Amino acid sequence: MNKDFDVKSYIKDFPVLSQGSQEKKLVYLDSAATAQKPQQVINSIKGYYEKINANPHRGAYSLSTSSTEAYDESRRVVKEFINAAHVEEIIFTKSSTEAFNLLAYSYGMNYINPGDEILISIAEHHSNLIPWQQVAKAKGATLKYMYINDNCELTSEEVKNKITKNTKLVSVTRMSNALGTIFPVKEIIEYAHEAGAVVCVDAAQSIAHTAVDVQDLNADFLVFSGHKIMAPMGIGVLYGKRELLDKMPPFLFGGDMVEYVYEQNTSYADLPFKFEGGTQNVEAAIGLKEAIYYINSIGINNIEAHVQDLLQYAHEKLKKLDIVTLYGPKEPSKKGGIISFNVKDVHPHDTSSILDSYGVAVRSGNHCAQPLMRYLNINSTCRASFYLYNTYEDVDIFVDAIKNVRRWLGYGS
Ligand code: ALA
Repeated sequence: MNKDFDVKSYIKDFPVLSQGSQEKKLVYLDSAATAQKPQQVINSIKGYYEKINANPHRGAYSLSTSSTEAYDESRRVVKEFINAAHVEEIIFTKSSTEAFNLLAYSYGMNYINPGDEILISIAEHHSNLIPWQQVAKAKGATLKYMYINDNCELTSEEVKNKITKNTKLVSVTRMSNALGTIFPVKEIIEYAHEAGAVVCVDAAQSIAHTAVDVQDLNADFLVFSGHKIMAPMGIGVLYGKRELLDKMPPFLFGGDMVEYVYEQNTSYADLPFKFEGGTQNVEAAIGLKEAIYYINSIGINNIEAHVQDLLQYAHEKLKKLDIVTLYGPKEPSKKGGIISFNVKDVHPHDTSSILDSYGVAVRSGNHCAQPLMRYLNINSTCRASFYLYNTYEDVDIFVDAIKNVRRWLGYGS
């Protein structure tokens, strides 16, 4: 247990968490879907509109310059956060989904050829799956899957077996959004590079918990969403190595992504602007910068340790309940802050609604991972996910509520 982590001093930063009463507090266990926002982030958005709102890169007047500077500063902060080598390797998108689509249409449609193999894992979120299906269909390539073992892990053997001389692109999550499993992306990147493939890392979940160093990982591309790390919705990031981004054509055509436009032809702006057509979500970029400042002020390693403590504590309690089935690795140390579970004979949507009546918010469904659910031979699960503002008391309320789920539906216990 990390006794130095003063969770109460952070909870007060999150206005939404003060909802509820003493009898029924809000126990928010759905940070894997979106994290709550601290006042600092909320204030930064308000401050942007009150003080410097103007369209960046569009005006020579000082308000527009201030907006441009604030937007550019956000890019520099993201660059430092993931330790990219160059600021122009950071492309702002509206979400991870848009980042994957950018990559599929701009890289995949141009550099994947008939007979090539695109390799993903069975645990991918639909956003890191459907775009590659589109590329494979359009280009006559094959979409191959790495499968997880009985403990829901991706083994080195499976990775080695699936990467062949035909593998041209591997796109894999660092942490499963449905199971919490942490995947060995550094090892995958090494094998893939030996085979001459490029690798994209889906960091949408892991970004909230684990430090990212794209140079140390040697990732070719990396994708994440701001809202999972307490930034506003509507901002995502595509990181790409400069030499790869340079050779990719734009994805969205229009305002601000050009150099010269003639009646029949256009030349494009340099990186990163080539990929940022149209007016950007500046306030969300500024919110993202503020969210990163907030994380840095706490220390991402401290957040990771706190979430791991809660995960272990919750696992210990849930393991003792024979009405609960847990999905994912048996050892919490092999997971990020996610617990996927079902209550015996109860549909996950019913479980989730009953937990809600105790003030506990969890997600239920297939978690945008239908192939994974099919592979596990289940339709759906409930998912509890933890973040820096959750407490041991939250876990106690959650587990006590689970004990009552079956009774609500008329079962004896
Ligand atoms: N991708 C988000 C989740 O897993 C929405 O819940």
